[in-house]
Amino acid sequence: MNTFEYIDGRLHCEDVDLSILGETYGTPSYVYSKKTIHENAKAYVNSFTNSDNLACFAVKSLSNLSILNIIKNSGCGFDIVSGGELNRVLSIGAEPKKVIFSGVGKTKKEIEQGINSGILSFNVESESELYRIEKVAEEIGSPAPISIRINPDIDSGGHDYITTGRKGDKFGISETRKIIDLCKHAHRAKHLKIVGLACHIGSQILDLDGFIKSADKIFELADELANFDISLEFLDLGGGLGISYEDEVPPSPFDLISCLEEKFKNRKERLILEPGRSISANAGILLTQVEYIKDNFLIVDAAMNDLLRPSLYKAHHDVCNVIDKKDNLKKWNIVGPICESSDFLAKNISLDVNEDDLIAIKNAGAYGFVMASNYNSRPKACEILIDGNESKIIRERETLDDLLEKEKIVND
Ligand SMILES: Cc1ncc(COP(=O)(O)O)c(C=O)c1O
Repeated sequence: MNTFEYIDGRLHCEDVDLSILGETYGTPSYVYSKKTIHENAKAYVNSFTNSDNLACFAVKSLSNLSILNIIKNSGCGFDIVSGGELNRVLSIGAEPKKVIFSGVGKTKKEIEQGINSGILSFNVESESELYRIEKVAEEIGSPAPISIRINPDIDSGGHDYITTGRKGDKFGISETRKIIDLCKHAHRAKHLKIVGLACHIGSQILDLDGFIKSADKIFELADELANFDISLEFLDLGGGLGISYEDEVPPSPFDLISCLEEKFKNRKERLILEPGRSISANAGILLTQVEYIKDNFLIVDAAMNDLLRPSLYKAHHDVCNVIDKKDNLKKWNIVGPICESSDFLAKNISLDVNEDDLIAIKNAGAYGFVMASNYNSRPKACEILIDGNESKIIRERETLDDLLEKEKIVND
C-alpha cells in the first residue's frame, strides 16, 4: 500500500498536504503514516492461519514509542536487541511473553532486565552468552527461557553489511554439534529453560529460498533434539523480508507466511518471525528543503546524520517533489551540509527543482531516524505521525541546548 500520493499536484501523507506540514513543523522532518504502519503489521498478523504463530517487530528498524504502540495494537510482539529497546517496549505496555531478545553482546545488566521482565526468550548467540545467562538466572533465582540462534551458513544476497547468516558472520552458532551440546546442557540446567531455536539470515531479502533453506536446517536440528527428549515451543525464522526501493518485487508477508505455514503443517512448534523493514520502511519519508543549488548538486537541509543508509550502504532512496513539476527535469546529486564527501542522500535523481523547494526522500521509515546522530553538532529532526487529516509530533526536534545538555566544562 502507498499512503504518500499526489492529490492535485501536491504530495500528501494520508490526507495531510506535506507542503503545509513542512511550513508548520520545519525541516528536516520524518513523517510517518499511521495507516501504513498498521496495515503493514496487520499483513503479518492476518496472514497467520494458526493463532499461536507470532510476528515480533524488529524494534531496531523504527523505535518511536507511538509507532511501537500502533504495532502492539495490531497484534505483533517485539524483537529487541538492547536494554534500551526492552525499556521502550515495556513502557508502551507490550506483553513480555511476546518479546524476543536477540543480539550478540547482551550485558549482565540487560540479561537481568530480560529475566526480571519475564520475556518470552533470549536468542542466545554464543556459548559464553549461554553460560552468562545461566549464571545471572541462578543469581536472580529465576530460570531464563532461551533459544539458540543458529548460523545456517546461508547467503541471503544483498549488501554485505546486512547479510547475517553466513559462516564467518558474527551472528549465531554454526557448529551443529555445539548447538546440540548447548541445548542438552540447557535442558539439564536448573536455571535455564530451552524453548526454541532461531535464525535470521539477513535483511532486504527478495526471494523465499533462504527462508525455506533456514526452515529445513532448523527442522533438522529440532528433530535431532527430539531424540534427546528436548521438545521446543517455537522455531523463529527471523526477519529480513525486503521492500521495493527501486523496482524490486519482494514476496509479500502473505507469500512468506503461507510458504512457511505449509512447511510447519506437521510440526508442533509455533512459528515466530521478526520483521522490521517490511513493516516500517514505506511508512516513512524524510522531508527536506533545498538550501542551495550548485552545479549538479542539490544541497538540502537533511544530511547523513539524519539518514545514514545511502552513506553506509550506498542504499538507494527515491526522491520526489512535494509540489509536483516536471517541465525542467535535470539529474541531481542530493547532498547534505556535512563535511564529508560521503554525505549524500541520493545520486542521479531526475527532478525539476529550485532553491527553497521541499522534497521527500521516500521509504525512509526503516533504519532512518533510528540511525540518526548529532554529527557536526546537528540537532536530530523531529518525527511526525499522520493519522487521516491529523498530524502529531511524536518526537520533538532537538534544540541547540539539547546538544549541550550532557556536557561539562571542567577547569584546566
Ligand atoms: C535478529 C534480527 N531480527 C530481525 C531483524 C529485522 O530485519 P528486517 O528489518 O530486514 O526485517 C534484524 C535486522 O537486522 C535482526 O538483526
